[in-house]
Amino acid sequence: MTQPDHSPSAERNKQPILEVLQNMLAPSGRALEIASGTGQHVVWFAHALPHWTWQPTEVHRGALYNIEVRATQADLANVQVAQQLDVCREPWFAPDSELATPYDLVLCINMLHIAPWVCCGALMRGAARYLAPGGLLVTYGPYFEAGETPTPSNLAFDASLRAHDASFGIRQLADVEADAAQAGLHLCTRHTMPANNLLLAWGRRETAF
Ligand SMILES: C[S@@+](CC[C@H](N)C(=O)[O-])C[C@H]1O[C@@H](n2cnc3c(N)ncnc32)[C@H](O)[C@@H]1O
Repeated sequence: MTQPDHSPSAERNKQPILEVLQNMLAPSGRALEIASGTGQHVVWFAHALPHWTWQPTEVHRGALYNIEVRATQADLANVQVAQQLDVCREPWFAPDSELATPYDLVLCINMLHIAPWVCCGALMRGAARYLAPGGLLVTYGPYFEAGETPTPSNLAFDASLRAHDASFGIRQLADVEADAAQAGLHLCTRHTMPANNLLLAWGRRETAF
């Protein structure tokens, strides 16, 4: 069996993200991960939160192999078979599919800046559609914020992303909030995270937090 791809950044941030999720989430629920990448996050979270069921997804079919190998090696009963999902292909799931059952958490780590901007609105609409009442969308990554001086490392990261692909780049939090509002979501909590990242929790307007 070929070893799955490994992401050093996922290895570094998985525990800090888990610690926020552990404080934020109910003891049990259903989670949908968007852009699961190597599967390192979903396996780590599923192990630490065994009463949650985790549904990994990825746009790239080849990445599904990584997730499946990791989940199989970890022997976790609470990780579902990884599904191909492009946030921009709406609706995400057939209405009569088990996958369309509402989720208590939609989790999206490090996608918004490494995907075209249209993916942000699509993520917000999809999350609004599939979140259970009181459910949360959690996004993690770097953002630029009005009134905050960007760190040199985030400016350099943004420039390198845009040089690689002009449709990528660190997003303005205000623009993300505008897309969220159009989808009926609002920012519930903002957590500062290591390496100039933010963990943001978004809920429907009626969701108090
Ligand atoms: C930097 S990687 C992050 C992967 C993983 N979440 C992590 O933090 O290690 C960006 C991810 O966004 C995914 N992505 C890009 N465009 C997407 C789309 N339209 N729908 C869903 N995922 C997308 C890529 O396939 C990739 O897995």
